[in-house]
Amino acid sequence: MRRISVLGCGYVGLVTGAGIASFGNKVLCTDSNIEKIKNLKKMILPFSEPGLFELIEKAFKSGLISFSSDLHQSIADSDAVIIAVQTPQNDDGSADISFVLNAAEDISRHLIKPAVIIIKSTVPIGTAAKVKNHMNSLLKDRNAGFNVEIVSNPEFLREGAAVQTFLYPDRIVVGSSQNAEVISIMNDIYKTPVERGVPVIRCSNETAETIKYAANSFLAMKIAYINQIALLCEKTGADIKIVSKAVGSDERINPKFLEPGPGFGGSCFPKDTRALVKLAEDYNLDLSLIRGIYEANTAHKTILAEKAIRIMRDNDAKTLGIWGVSFKAGSQDMRNAPALDILPLILNSGIKIKLFDPKAINEAMSYFYEYEDMIDYCTSKEDALKGSDALMILTEWDCFKNADLKEMASLLNKKILMDYRNIYDSKTSAELGFLYYGVGI
Ligand code: UGA
Repeated sequence: MRRISVLGCGYVGLVTGAGIASFGNKVLCTDSNIEKIKNLKKMILPFSEPGLFELIEKAFKSGLISFSSDLHQSIADSDAVIIAVQTPQNDDGSADISFVLNAAEDISRHLIKPAVIIIKSTVPIGTAAKVKNHMNSLLKDRNAGFNVEIVSNPEFLREGAAVQTFLYPDRIVVGSSQNAEVISIMNDIYKTPVERGVPVIRCSNETAETIKYAANSFLAMKIAYINQIALLCEKTGADIKIVSKAVGSDERINPKFLEPGPGFGGSCFPKDTRALVKLAEDYNLDLSLIRGIYEANTAHKTILAEKAIRIMRDNDAKTLGIWGVSFKAGSQDMRNAPALDILPLILNSGIKIKLFDPKAINEAMSYFYEYEDMIDYCTSKEDALKGSDALMILTEWDCFKNADLKEMASLLNKKILMDYRNIYDSKTSAELGFLYYGVGI
């Protein structure tokens, strides 16, 4: 049984820790936030993610996971230490790796035997090499008598399905010098999926680091792409739902991430596409296609906001109901959510808002505090309709998908529906008297 430390009990760290504990490793999770560790010891998680509580509880009971704020105790004797700290965005779009470097310094200070250092955080290409040099020189300075190996092992977790995506990955990427010890430790850590036949892609650190950015920017590109095709459909009268379905049925393309919407958001796609462009600039390379993804996504949100303002003005509508503000269904996360760009443009045009989200109301309040007088925060989806002239849907929560169109029509002052997740059928909506506007419809 391998003894693995996880540094950073955020989203990636906790899911990873719980996941590898369920594969049979002994996992020690640590974090600089003492309060967080105190809570975790009492099984109070800092966020909710389907299946995570149960996974941690099971590992906790069988002694395979523990939480400690004592760095030395957590790290010193480990076979591997996983760095799962945040890499926030700098103002110029590049990724800030100071948390990763601090973690590397902490580890160098406390290790008492050779260990494999696994970088899970999304880091610019070349970071593993930097961390390796830094750590080995610190170890030399304190006459530790050993060196560390660095493995770049990117995560491919999706919020809302993180446990599932960790336990049943499409592939495991192991970027390292590939010495025998590294291969053996990584095979042990991922024993269960490896035995199940999940492909392990062994490569250099730089290749692994590139894979993460390439995968995320490709997925972001699919969304930006279908959103642009949707705008074209809106002009030509083509049906975007059929176009998307038919394009996605080519197995070389596949139907996933081809759903038009208000633009991609979250803590990954917007940040990673920008970081990749910035990173290439440092090599005097203009990745125009990838830059275009970010720009198209930004423009898309403005186009949808302007469309809404136009519809409201043309119909003498003054109050807009909003259903959903989180960046996607199943998450209360509003980081880079399309609502953060779309709603201020609408509010600045003088339109009032009645807002409902099943989980993200508190987040919305903190993000939109400047617009206090213009936003009425509602406790139910029906409330957001009462007194509103129109409705805009920004997040595809199930409770919106299952809503009764007839009831919605009866609650709204004017039957105007801006379905920016293309949830409803345009014909059915029109039959019920709605003026229906989707994305590409
Ligand atoms: C994304 C990737 O999907 C994960 O593989 C990756 O590991 C993760 O980033 C990360 O780097 O940590 P996540 O940000 O949780 O995961 O969310 P997604 O489900 O990918 O959705 C991202 C955005 O795209 C959301 O705003 C969503 O509404 C939007 N989207 C997604 C669309 O507008 N249309 C689609 O067809 C799919």
